[in-house]
Amino acid sequence: MSKSVSTLTFQKYKQQGRKIVCLTAYDYSTAKILDRAGVDLILVGDSLAMVALGHQTTHAVTMDEMVHHTRAVTRGVQQAFVVADLPFMSYQVDVIQAITNAGRFIKEAQAHAVKLEGATRLNLEVIERLVGMGIPVMGHLGFTPQSIHGLGGTRVQGRSAEEALKLLNDSLALEKAGVFSIVFEMVPAAVATMITRSLTVPTIGIGAGNGCDGQILVTDDLLGKYTDFQPRFVRRYANLADVCHKAISAYAEDVRNSSFPDETESFAFAEDEAERLRDLLGEPTENHTEVSC
Ligand code: KIV
Repeated sequence: MSKSVSTLTFQKYKQQGRKIVCLTAYDYSTAKILDRAGVDLILVGDSLAMVALGHQTTHAVTMDEMVHHTRAVTRGVQQAFVVADLPFMSYQVDVIQAITNAGRFIKEAQAHAVKLEGATRLNLEVIERLVGMGIPVMGHLGFTPQSIHGLGGTRVQGRSAEEALKLLNDSLALEKAGVFSIVFEMVPAAVATMITRSLTVPTIGIGAGNGCDGQILVTDDLLGKYTDFQPRFVRRYANLADVCHKAISAYAEDVRNSSFPDETESFAFAEDEAERLRDLLGEPTENHTEVSC
């Protein structure tokens, strides 16, 4: 059995120039497939609010829901490093609230680390405290979906020189506070590459070009299962929505025309038991039709 992935693995990969493979999962069976496929890091992203729960933004998902899904994911994982996303308003109030909620992911759901968005002063303090108590933290900069309204929508961040400089300074502050890695979402490739070279911790890109130390996508996007919209940075490796639609239509047709289930998909009733039942029912033995099996 190969060794489990840890924060040290990511550090080593960055030094070796080996790319870090990350994907999201919200349930046991998906996590198991990702883990067996050798994905290094599995994020239980708050994107589950939209992808798994059907909300318009990531805001609505609760801490309890995130813990519930993270528990399902960690049950399916043997090797990968599991990061749980702190949802909106689970860490923005004060340090105690943030520590309590981060602790729930580790204690109740067996996550290995937590992720939070932005580099506010409070976040930096939270990161220092969590890292100090042995909880690894992943940062998230660029387009941060929990701030979608403040950012004026789903927009690329760091397009101007000033914005790019702010991203660099925020990244350095997160690194100093102790994050083991930073996600860059929707950042110009050249900016993400420049910052990646300025950091000792690995960067993980989503819509941030090829210069990051690793990549992450929402698994349902990659598989073509979540089809409400397709961001430009998603590469579709399958079209599961179509595959599932065809399979389910075929099942519906088979049920309606009685071709499902057939005898191989049912359980037989032994003829001697059928005969005994007919006796119990007081049916004449020559009339086999009632309980013929
Ligand atoms: O919630 C999520 O899935 C994420 C990734 C897109 C990085 O934060």
